[in-house]
Amino acid sequence: MNAVSTKSGRPGGSIVEGEFLFTHDDFKRIAQMLHADSGIALPDSKATLVYSRLAKRLRALGLESFRDYCAMVAGAEGIDERKRMLASLTTNVTRFFREPHHFEHLKSQVLPPLLDAAKRGQRVRIWSAGCSTGPEPYSIALTILGLMPDATEYDIKILASDIDPDVVEVGRKGIYSTEAVSPVPADLRNKWFQNAGGRNVQVADELRELVAFRELNLIGDWPMKGKFNVIFCRNVVIYFQEDTQTMIWNRFRNYLTPNGCLYIGHSERLTGTGEAFRTEALTTYRLAGGR
Ligand SMILES: C[S@@+](CC[C@H](N)C(=O)[O-])C[C@H]1O[C@@H](n2cnc3c(N)ncnc32)[C@H](O)[C@@H]1O
Repeated sequence: MNAVSTKSGRPGGSIVEGEFLFTHDDFKRIAQMLHADSGIALPDSKATLVYSRLAKRLRALGLESFRDYCAMVAGAEGIDERKRMLASLTTNVTRFFREPHHFEHLKSQVLPPLLDAAKRGQRVRIWSAGCSTGPEPYSIALTILGLMPDATEYDIKILASDIDPDVVEVGRKGIYSTEAVSPVPADLRNKWFQNAGGRNVQVADELRELVAFRELNLIGDWPMKGKFNVIFCRNVVIYFQEDTQTMIWNRFRNYLTPNGCLYIGHSERLTGTGEAFRTEALTTYRLAGGR
């Protein structure tokens, strides 16, 4: 990859130095398409990042400028490439047991009554919205299996959804490096992962059975019919503008059971939801009006 550096003050000129011409207009068009498709807002400071992530697409397609790339992804024949563009521009950083206080709260405060209810034949549903490559939903499943090793015998399911089909596929396969699974407590790691060759491990069948991976756009239609006892939506809406964030938080209200629990990312805030949620712990909320 050529070194890139941002130039400024040249209307129509390249805003990032490198092998392809990339003007401010090109950046704006890409930002508009990404916003329309995903809700993600790209500030001007991300120009270099956009250049470096998309330059390889231009190279692969044999294009000479970002202008040609924009024309392609904006047209009817560019639908697949537009999805690739979106996948290239999303931030998929994630970790097993990220923000561990949420998993401690889940284990001690939320799961015990839910798993009791499951034993009495009730359904338990948890949604990892914006799940990236899977460590978040698998951490939820591991927390469940830690309390209830025969959880797959009951009506317990985790929906793991993301807009990016590539990360959904990685999650579905469930193969991770031993380094990636190092935050998983040793007893759970030894029991619920198996060797996958080299320095990789794969989720055991029980873990896989608890989690259903689906492609889903949070700013699009949500096809789910039933409600969720718990929603994790962490480090996703941080990339959206505030009105979009508020829209998502308010949509979650209709998808949570009474007293349902919502976990959000450490730098996110629940805005525009009035009295709908009550704060239970750090970035942990309950739908008000329940038990
Ligand atoms: C930084 S990751 C967070 C992963 C995980 N929740 C965590 O906290 O570790 C953000 C994820 O949100 C997804 N995302 C971004 N916009 C989305 C949208 N409109 N609908 C669904 N997922 C989206 C991205 O593809 C990415 O995988």
